[in-house]
Amino acid sequence: HPLNFSGVWRFRELFPFAPDDRVMTIGEGQTLCQRADPVAEYVGLKPGKLFLQYEGMNPSGSFKDNGMTAAFTHARMVDARRAACASTGNTSASLAIYCAATNLMRAVIFIGSGKISYGKLSQALEHNALTLQIAGDFDDALRRVQEVSRALGIYLVNSVNPFRLEGQKSIMFRVLEALRWEVPDWIVVPGGNLGNVSAFGKAFMELLELGLIPRAPRLAVINAAGANTFYQLYERHGVRWNGGKPDDKKTNAYLKMLDDTGARADTLASAIEINRPVNFPKALRALERCGGCVREVTDQEILDAKAKIGAGGLGCEPASAASVAGLLKLVKEGVVAPDERVVCILTGHVLKDPTATVAYHSSDPKTFEDVLGKRGVRRAAFANR
Ligand code: F0G
Repeated sequence: HPLNFSGVWRFRELFPFAPDDRVMTIGEGQTLCQRADPVAEYVGLKPGKLFLQYEGMNPSGSFKDNGMTAAFTHARMVDARRAACASTGNTSASLAIYCAATNLMRAVIFIGSGKISYGKLSQALEHNALTLQIAGDFDDALRRVQEVSRALGIYLVNSVNPFRLEGQKSIMFRVLEALRWEVPDWIVVPGGNLGNVSAFGKAFMELLELGLIPRAPRLAVINAAGANTFYQLYERHGVRWNGGKPDDKKTNAYLKMLDDTGARADTLASAIEINRPVNFPKALRALERCGGCVREVTDQEILDAKAKIGAGGLGCEPASAASVAGLLKLVKEGVVAPDERVVCILTGHVLKDPTATVAYHSSDPKTFEDVLGKRGVRRAAFANR
């Protein structure tokens, strides 16, 4: 069946909301789960224990396409003419490419001004999305797009949209498939708006219910230290889902403190520069059901991890590398044991944010003379004769 060429829709029995002939696919989800021994060594795991799920191979270069194909399919089912999102860049790139490729809808994109990397901005522009800058950051842009789409009846594709999460479950189905359905001990994922971790938790709860897996892996969510609301609430303030009764008092007090102090998210990992994650309650549920933890990592830790991942042959953007930086921390703490099997999700492609990468390697490229020098070249030429 043609839908079996999509890494998302070939699992459609596990999210059966659309008739086959209404599904909108552009070949998303053809991604790779790769054993990564050099990175395993970097984080302190034994060889063969670390796998990297590389979502940079998607049509728009990030994991967002897994969810966008589902949301877009639903938008078409309800005959939407326009679809909107707020974004730190990847959701907008994904929406733009689905709109352009299918010519069914106009994309309307809200971005915090100056808050989006060039790779991602270029995608929105190239695919002809109506791209609107909002004074402020992602949290402001999301508030705005929610108001506007409600008022104007525009279909909203941010991860408040439950169909997005349905599609993103497929990331875990593919991980399990790659591991021959042997459940890993840990899944480690960067946390921004917390859509991914919510989708992963839902995937595992459903697979358990269906009897397709004997147990769920544990979930570790990694925040950037400059955008660490989930870490603060879960690890520092002890907020839990509590069977659907999360401690809203503590949560609201914390968010009010953010408002009162005017605190803003601030990290070089711009994809996860978010202080008010909309999927917070669902993410709490995922951690409660699967068991898990949250950690924060600094920008430097993220960039160092990113360079190790790149040297190992998979190029990812800064936010993605938070997963590996967080794993390094968890192994050091003894929370993850060296012989446990771990999958880190690499959420976006290295070309998404070339500025961060080139700045990190700022002493490169070296000139020819720096490395060989005039005498070195002459000596090498002589040796060749
Ligand atoms: N990694 C990348 C590369 C992302 O673009 C995002 C989110 C995340 C991780 C975090 O995932 O929100 O499911 O916890 N980017 C959104 C965007 C917010 O607008 O592109 P999450």
